[in-house]
Amino acid sequence: MLMNRSFDDTEPYMISKQTAKGRAPDNALKTLPAEKEKTSSVAKIKVVVRKRPLNKKELAKNEEDIIETYANSLTVHETKLKVDLTQYLEKHEFVFDAVLNEEVTNDEVYRETVEPIVPIIFERTKATCFAYGQTGSGKTYTMKPLPLKASRDILRLMHHTYRNQGFQLFVSFFEIYGGKLYDLLNERKKLCMREDGKQQVCIVGLQEYRVADVENIKDLIEKGSATRSTGTTGANEESSRSHAILQLAIKRSVDGNESKPPRLVGKLSFIDLAGSERGADTTDNDKQTRIEGAEINKSLLALKECIRALDNDQGHIPFRGSKLTEVLRDSFVGNSRTVMISCISPSSGSCEHTLNTLRYADRVKSLSKGNNSKKDVLSSNFNLKESITVPLSSVTAPAYEDYTADAWRDENEGDDFSPPEEYYEQVKPPLKKNVRMESYAMTDDKLKKPSGLVKWKDLPKPEPKPTNSEDDLSALLQEEEDLVNAHRTQVEETMNIVREEMNLLVEADQPGNQLDDYVTRLNTILSQKAAGILQLQNRLAHFQKRLKEHNVLVSSSGY
Ligand SMILES: Nc1ncnc2c1ncn2[C@@H]1O[C@H](COP(=O)(O)OP(=O)(O)O)[C@@H](O)[C@H]1O
Ligand SMILES: [Mg+2]
Repeated sequence: MLMNRSFDDTEPYMISKQTAKGRAPDNALKTLPAEKEKTSSVAKIKVVVRKRPLNKKELAKNEEDIIETYANSLTVHETKLKVDLTQYLEKHEFVFDAVLNEEVTNDEVYRETVEPIVPIIFERTKATCFAYGQTGSGKTYTMKPLPLKASRDILRLMHHTYRNQGFQLFVSFFEIYGGKLYDLLNERKKLCMREDGKQQVCIVGLQEYRVADVENIKDLIEKGSATRSTGTTGANEESSRSHAILQLAIKRSVDGNESKPPRLVGKLSFIDLAGSERGADTTDNDKQTRIEGAEINKSLLALKECIRALDNDQGHIPFRGSKLTEVLRDSFVGNSRTVMISCISPSSGSCEHTLNTLRYADRVKSLSKGNNSKKDVLSSNFNLKESITVPLSSVTAPAYEDYTADAWRDENEGDDFSPPEEYYEQVKPPLKKNVRMESYAMTDDKLKKPSGLVKWKDLPKPEPKPTNSEDDLSALLQEEEDLVNAHRTQVEETMNIVREEMNLLVEADQPGNQLDDYVTRLNTILSQKAAGILQLQNRLAHFQKRLKEHNVLVSSSGY
């Protein structure tokens, strides 16, 4: 069913694989001594997506792989139903700093994400690496090996480059569950958080272990992970409702004086976030689940806000939004780096969650282009419109006009999606159509392999046709479809905005909330809403004009 861009062009696919696999070992460790510049050359925010393979359960249910990866971009092929119950495909395209497909190993994930950051931890940098995604998308699988690999590199640097300079490595591991903190290296002892006079957050009673060799740290990670997954109830799914935070702290004893407590130099935090879908547990009948869901929702939104503030070098960082961001406070100030790994399932059954994850990542990414201004915040909203629609039931020549937003136009300019000529003749009003999805289904699970059924790239580019009323009609029908899709997208966006607004209201009620921040954000939200409405109004006005030109009565348009 996939109109795969890389059907017949195995070469680009190979390139994308090579970038992931054979990436030059630009191992920053080797070039460490001349390092001052490196600190700034590592991106402040990096957003990476990792797609896991289909699992047995998904295969058993005959679910399909709907994620097509291509270099650092990916496409989600969403099957949708129209009001008349015919199916069509909607393509959503996203671009990230890196896209790691199902063949990429944990070693490669480490190389792409954390490895470049390790050396700058010695230079007073606080770095955070998150895994975001729905339960079962591979967050734990992705995060678990990272701290060990990082410690190995840290210890290597300590023993070689920074030999005898008094650096020490410490590890702590705790979890946030329902807004409360538990020590995973100390029998899940409940912890509390305090702010000292210098506004330093400290977690009272958290066990920090000094580690000197890799085996040592491996044991601790194992121990903490085991404590986490069994939790209090022993139910594995509990872990999806908690954030697990493992921190590696590099400290240095002042003047090599071992009797004084060492001072913190840099920190690397690894966060296995709660399942992103858990934030939606807010309508559950069970009160406890509802409270937890609300807390998760709040923390994930607050996290996004903090990353946003961080990249804007905004004075005020809204870390008070949640326990998670409060705990991470010191990682958001000063010289910091953030890597977000968005984990996604490839299966058609997870499409909605996958899109939510990618949109969240997209928001983080589009805010991290360095030159952020309010304007960019606004335009990032339009990134959602990058998704384009290729209806299976009525494939017609795209009839894009000047009014079309650039984002739409760009996505449609490639000839990849040019429909076959014979389809032109078959265009009928949507209601009468019933093209079944199955006829387009791929027989092969592997996306990269052509199915032979729909080879869009092979199709001849349609010649410009002489205008006749038949063509006008198909163009008009296409526009109608586009309008409906734009409307649908707008409704989805509105829902996202409303969610953000609700969160803003919650935050506004909290003590210590900054009025200026509230005002700025409300302003942005209202502009986003206004821009969305205006765009749809323009589209609608244009469509009405076209109808008039063709003397089509609105009531006969089929909807
Ligand atoms: N990239 C991958 N390759 C192979 N198996 C994976 C991959 N990602 C996840 N899995 C498997 O999928 C299952 C769910 O992954 P997990 O990391 O527990 O998800 P999460 O922590 O997001 O709930 C696990 O059995 C895990 O081993
Ligand atoms: Mg997990």
